[in-house]
Amino acid sequence: MQKENKISLKNYNSFGVDVISSNFNIANSEKEIISFIKNNPFSEPIILGGGTNILFKNNIDRNILKIQVKGIELINETEDYVIISVGAGEVWNDLVNWAINNNYGGLENLSLIPGNVGSAPIQNIGAYGVELKDNFENCRTISIENGSLKIFKNSECKFSYRSSVFKEELKNKYIISYVTFKLSKKNHTINSSYEPLKQAIINNKISNPTIKNISELVCKIRSSKLPDPKLIGNCGSFFKNPIINKIDYKKLSEREKNVPFYKISEKKIKIPAAWVIEKCGYKGIRDGDTGTYDKHALIIVNYGKASGNEIFEFSQKIKNTVLRKFNILLEEEVNIIDN
Ligand code: EPU
Repeated sequence: MQKENKISLKNYNSFGVDVISSNFNIANSEKEIISFIKNNPFSEPIILGGGTNILFKNNIDRNILKIQVKGIELINETEDYVIISVGAGEVWNDLVNWAINNNYGGLENLSLIPGNVGSAPIQNIGAYGVELKDNFENCRTISIENGSLKIFKNSECKFSYRSSVFKEELKNKYIISYVTFKLSKKNHTINSSYEPLKQAIINNKISNPTIKNISELVCKIRSSKLPDPKLIGNCGSFFKNPIINKIDYKKLSEREKNVPFYKISEKKIKIPAAWVIEKCGYKGIRDGDTGTYDKHALIIVNYGKASGNEIFEFSQKIKNTVLRKFNILLEEEVNIIDN
């Protein structure tokens, strides 16, 4: 267990916000997580993974527990598939690359998503037509209340669009230490349903895409419109894409031309938050050292020295404008931490 009493979190959050943590702890194993919980009862720690989906508004006095449990272990193998157990502290994209190098299929559409493996189930990360839940078997967790171990199967995680039980009724109740995945060894199911990916396959004249092809194309598409957090601070999509009633979508379409949409059910339609934000005139807008990325309106960026509060205030300006103009209440995808 490592402990720091005064440390800048600048290198621990992809927004690059320079706040001070006065109680920073790193757990390198499941055992260390359990002993931290037992030694710090009632401390309500902030659990930190890769820091790629979190906005610290101020300095943090509360305990922070960074999870750095490493390792990728093959736990079962048949002719058709492998079951692997992965430490929560592994970098997500390292896992994706490991899978592709071993020709294990399932994670390729999720290439280049920032963050760590342990955070992936919490918000059911997704991109290009695939979500974490599609290859997830179970996760091992530790109760924050008493340090006991519990395994959550796929169905028990109640996965939904960018959410799970760990973001809803069990929020801040469990720490994920390991995630188990089932990946294909042959006859991979290639998912190329997402329009820009389909288009890229056609443009590159690929007739039978392999998982490596898909991964490369996804990386290309992502890099063309999303900023690299190592170069410009950001946390990817700041808001979730809003899901609205079909009736409201119809009304919106009468007001605006070509409103993009994804059908969710007979009554519900998801529309891109980026589109509504752009319609409000917020694409590529700079406000001090924060703003929206010029190639994607849903990405709020830190040009260098923006504080967490400045980024937050800017996000709320966007939120209020969207509410006034479209009567749509955007919901933050990024976790906002007050102190
Ligand atoms: N659009 C605009 N203006 C923009 C950008 C996009 O109008 O500046 C419209 C276009 O109509 C475009 C549509 O929005 O077709 C969708 O854009 P994009 O394909 O970039 O996807 P997104 O809905 O903005 C979601 C995820 C991303 C994920 C991509 C690809 C959410 C909140 N975001 O973005 O995830 O990479 O799909 O699957 O669901 C993240 O979670 O941090 C993230 C980046």
